[in-house]
Amino acid sequence: MDIVETLKAAGIIPVIVIDDEAKAVPLAKALVGGGLPVLEVTFRTRAAAGAIARIRAEVPDAVVGAGTLLTKDQVKAAKDAGAVFGVAPGFDPAVVSVAQEVGLPMVPGVATASELSQALTAGVPMVKFFPAEAAGGVKMIKNLLGAFKFTGVKFMPTGGINAVNVKDYLAVPEIVACGGTWIVPKDALASNDWGRIETLAAEAAAIVRARG
Ligand code: 3PG
Repeated sequence: MDIVETLKAAGIIPVIVIDDEAKAVPLAKALVGGGLPVLEVTFRTRAAAGAIARIRAEVPDAVVGAGTLLTKDQVKAAKDAGAVFGVAPGFDPAVVSVAQEVGLPMVPGVATASELSQALTAGVPMVKFFPAEAAGGVKMIKNLLGAFKFTGVKFMPTGGINAVNVKDYLAVPEIVACGGTWIVPKDALASNDWGRIETLAAEAAAIVRARG
């Protein structure tokens, strides 16, 4: 799997925080049904690995990755659960190195030129820019590109992105995708409101299509 092409094709990646792995399959079906097949299940809850495994087993059209991978053990657990890519909020060379060893394409997070430089040295083709809005948003990414464009690096910003400001990010060619939790609101997940989640996913997918 080419991680850059996969994330680019999806354009918007729902960032999922799930407490009950039994909700993973209906949630993934709603997101895929709405037109967002690439999902990031964060390792912020104990249900993460189980949720990934269930999605892999029961929602074949979903492309499921693991987010918030902070430790080497989490990388291994994500791979074992069936995640096909990994995401982290920051850049930790040890974490990226284990991901490379186990064959999990990894998108580490950066917020500065120094971190971006180190991530490129570690051999990753793209980075998460986090926390996107708080760290300077589109303007910051464009400034980083002033120095790093020639490297070919691609960005996936997340943090503070929503259905309105996502358009400004996706207008930048080097921003291949944006991640965010707005497509899976906590209350909708709590009340099993799959219809609302599918509608939010469809609205997001329409924004991606408009990117052209
Ligand atoms: C992430 O880890 O990608 C962010 O926490 C998502 O941020 P958001 O909740 O502002 O979309």
